[in-house]
Amino acid sequence: MSTVVLDNVTKVYPGGYLAVDRINLRAENGEFLVLLGPSGCGKSTLLRMIAGLEEITSGDLWLGGTLANDLPPRDRDVAMVFQNGALYPHRTVRGNMAFPLEIAKADPALVRERVIELSKALHIDETLDRRPGTLSGGQRQRVAMGRAIVRQPSLFLMDEPLSNLDAGMRTEMRMEISALVRSLGVTTVYVTHDQVEALTLADRIAIMNRGVLQDLGTPGQVYNDPATAFTAAFLSSQQLNLLSAVVKTPQNQFIMLDFGPHQITIPWTDPRAYVISQHVGRQIIVGLRPDCLAPVPETFEGPVFFGRVRALEYHGHEWLAYVESGIQSVAVPEPPDPRENARAMAAASGGRAMAAIRKLLPGRPAEPEIEHGQEQASGTHRRADLIVRLGARPVWRAGEPARVGVDASRLMLFTVDGARIDPPRR
Ligand SMILES: Nc1ncnc2c1ncn2[C@@H]1O[C@H](COP(=O)(O)OP(=O)(O)O)[C@@H](O)[C@H]1O
Ligand SMILES: [Mg+2]
Repeated sequence: MSTVVLDNVTKVYPGGYLAVDRINLRAENGEFLVLLGPSGCGKSTLLRMIAGLEEITSGDLWLGGTLANDLPPRDRDVAMVFQNGALYPHRTVRGNMAFPLEIAKADPALVRERVIELSKALHIDETLDRRPGTLSGGQRQRVAMGRAIVRQPSLFLMDEPLSNLDAGMRTEMRMEISALVRSLGVTTVYVTHDQVEALTLADRIAIMNRGVLQDLGTPGQVYNDPATAFTAAFLSSQQLNLLSAVVKTPQNQFIMLDFGPHQITIPWTDPRAYVISQHVGRQIIVGLRPDCLAPVPETFEGPVFFGRVRALEYHGHEWLAYVESGIQSVAVPEPPDPRENARAMAAASGGRAMAAIRKLLPGRPAEPEIEHGQEQASGTHRRADLIVRLGARPVWRAGEPARVGVDASRLMLFTVDGARIDPPRR
């Protein structure tokens, strides 16, 4: 049984690529922790540092309460499963699964028993005498999983173990992995870029982007109440509306989110009012999921955006409407591109290189202040379509005027850097 603690863990690859940037994270004993993020965000790098396959540039790694930065991989009591589940081609399934125990010089009778027991749990007991080359992708991945589990390590590390499988097999194995790992109660760090996998498997999800931890919480917390605009957008099943607004308090009567052509007011009695008022006069980003917007009749009394339907899009189980409303939408705020750090490192000399990278990190430059209606040259502002979920039967037609009701209780407010303003209710 083991905890994993990452304390300011950073990885800079030779050449200055900042792949993991000061990550603080703790996996509890027996926890199933998922690292989620887009390709290239540093997930595998982080996992390989935990396994001891990659050197930690700075920061500390603690395994089961022991400082493990310099511990050789074989002394870490971890088992790792990779995407391609590399097996020994000339050994049978039985031989592959037994291998870690044979190396540990375990009692052969015990090895036999353990392999049979585990192969049944993994539904590969029929294949024990076959070679990996004769197995399906799903079966091979089960063998790889079995080989990792057989030794009962203190920690499982899994790097996209399902991503080479077809969709049906993925769903099936997802449930099996979940049941198996939970029954063993072994702490697990599981890497994936697949939101559904993360939401279905995890006790908690750590979301990364460009080497930076964006959010950490239970699936319900990070989905319903994301801490950053990046998390909100990455976990949104439909494209998230990220709208530019300025916070105002006209005559101190209420808080107004001024979107330019449209406004939403928030009364002082609203529990979010105080924190929002800290941003008066500033530009913020308002996140709205398409299902927080809906066509409403003229009698609707809540907040409304007006516009014109530009297009309708059929998604099988629902329609989405793209509504021109004149509101500025913005791109998802992201940490600086690590390639910039690599360039800074190249420009700096020898031992000062790390310091040069560090200089870039604090006080990351915010997006420039932007007045509504101003032409955007930066490319962070996009066309101003509101995406509205219409359900199974569209009430609008392309080209028609649209009256879009807003569920103001579900607004998510972010700074221009993407940090949540209205506090997540965790
Ligand atoms: N050995 C290496 N040398 C230099 N850069 C690397 C090396 N390994 C990975 N990277 C870079 O670090 C970034 C993070 O990689 P990785 O951890 O594999 O991301 P992920 O697993 O999230 O897709 C990527 O941009 C990748 O190109
Ligand atoms: Mg990877």
